[in-house]
Amino acid sequence: MKELRVRIFRFNPEAEDHPHYQHYQVRANDGARVLHVLQAISDEMDPTLSFRYCCGSGQCGSCAVRVNGQAVLACMEEAKDSMTVEPLELPVIRDLVVHMEPYLEAIASLIPTGEFRMPTHEEVEAMKPLRSCIECLACVSVCPALKVTKFAGPTVMREDMRLAIDPRDHEDRVTASVADGLFTCTSCQACWKTCPKDIQIPGKAIEKLRALANREGLTLPRHQEVAKLIQDTGRSVTRTEPTLMEQVPEVIEPRGEVKGTVGFFVGCMYNQRLPKSALDALEVLKRNGIRVIIPREQVCCGSPLIRTGQVDFLDTIKSRNINCFTFRGLDVVMTMCAGCGSTLKHDYTTPFRIMDITEVLTRFGIEQPAPLAIKATYHDPCHLLRGQGIRDQPRELITKVVDLVEMPAICCGSGGGVKSGNPAEADALGELRRAEIEKTGAEVVITSCPFCEYHIAPHTDKPVKNICTILLEGYAEKDRKERPPA
Ligand code: SF4
Ligand code: SF4
Ligand code: FES
Repeated sequence: MKELRVRIFRFNPEAEDHPHYQHYQVRANDGARVLHVLQAISDEMDPTLSFRYCCGSGQCGSCAVRVNGQAVLACMEEAKDSMTVEPLELPVIRDLVVHMEPYLEAIASLIPTGEFRMPTHEEVEAMKPLRSCIECLACVSVCPALKVTKFAGPTVMREDMRLAIDPRDHEDRVTASVADGLFTCTSCQACWKTCPKDIQIPGKAIEKLRALANREGLTLPRHQEVAKLIQDTGRSVTRTEPTLMEQVPEVIEPRGEVKGTVGFFVGCMYNQRLPKSALDALEVLKRNGIRVIIPREQVCCGSPLIRTGQVDFLDTIKSRNINCFTFRGLDVVMTMCAGCGSTLKHDYTTPFRIMDITEVLTRFGIEQPAPLAIKATYHDPCHLLRGQGIRDQPRELITKVVDLVEMPAICCGSGGGVKSGNPAEADALGELRRAEIEKTGAEVVITSCPFCEYHIAPHTDKPVKNICTILLEGYAEKDRKERPPA
């Protein structure tokens, strides 16, 4: 047995104006789940505590709550000392009980066709990854799109896709999903990473529905323009200044001993719109003994096509990108755009290893920069944190230079074609970022993705900088201090 201190959200909207937190001290068995703790409180200390449960074994989905900010199933999550238990981020009925009905009622049911055909083996296999939903609504509670725009939510999209595959269903699920907000999803992957059943809604439902919508001519006009630009120029954005590749040679030798060689997949944004951040990265790599090779034949990774369901000429650009690095015999290809990195890691099969620049720098190790007396916050790019599982490396680098103040890891609104296709939604999410940045009191916002860098900048009065830019500032300060007086 062990003693646990627990902080629990309490709110009765019918009798109180504001929620409050109540503290309890509970004795629980080793390995006790959060649900056991809630039951102990209710049985032995406070029968007024409201919470939902049924199966107690991860099957019914009724017990989802937030523990220390993360949406989890109370019956499956191990109880920890000093934990905070709150309801899902949905309208509260009482304490830990939230309104589920409106979201559950929006999930479609199969409507039988007149002509009945059983699904083929392939159709059954395609439906499998979408079938195990227990309707806990954890995904709905974390979806950023739902918070700012009309969107039926991730699990509605999941079921729409399942029914779109099923030949026994009569309805046009693709058109229905477009009306339900198919193009409002930012591809942030929060739903997938929160789902207790590991259902990959962005990749297995939303991108697939968008591809079906493309076949039916329902792709947003702005997304079609981006696809045409990629087909015509190899790039998803137009240039606004000399590109990175116009400013640097193909091979960039480091200063001093060579610790390693990487190919550099630059990506459209760093090449065409934000070459300064990429130039800063090259300086950091040069200073730390890493030789960089930038094949000129590389083009867009195809992420804007995959995320918006326009995959017709994807294979052509994939082969071109793979061949140009393979031809140069490279073992490691480095990305510094979170979206490119996630795409190359998950949507390509490559004979070389893909590493984000933060992985490269922390793996080889870097010269210590001088600390700067700056309070900064870090925005986790969705495609770095959730797409590539990279959380610690950026922080390891940033804290060499600045004092880091954390903020919640939520989407800035720039991904999934939302910035181009639904700019009002992207702006609303950018404003949510502004509010979180303000709360930290930081003087600088640091990130590691050009889309985030570009999108957050107009939504804050603080400078938004790439990790490498801040490292370079640390090196400049070090050089200044070490320079002998004139
Ligand atoms: S990927 Fe993000 S925006 Fe899209 S449905 Fe999932 S949580 Fe919502
Ligand atoms: S998709 Fe996953 S997170 Fe969403 S309701 Fe179903 S089981 Fe819960
Ligand atoms: S009580 Fe059924 S999933 Fe937790």
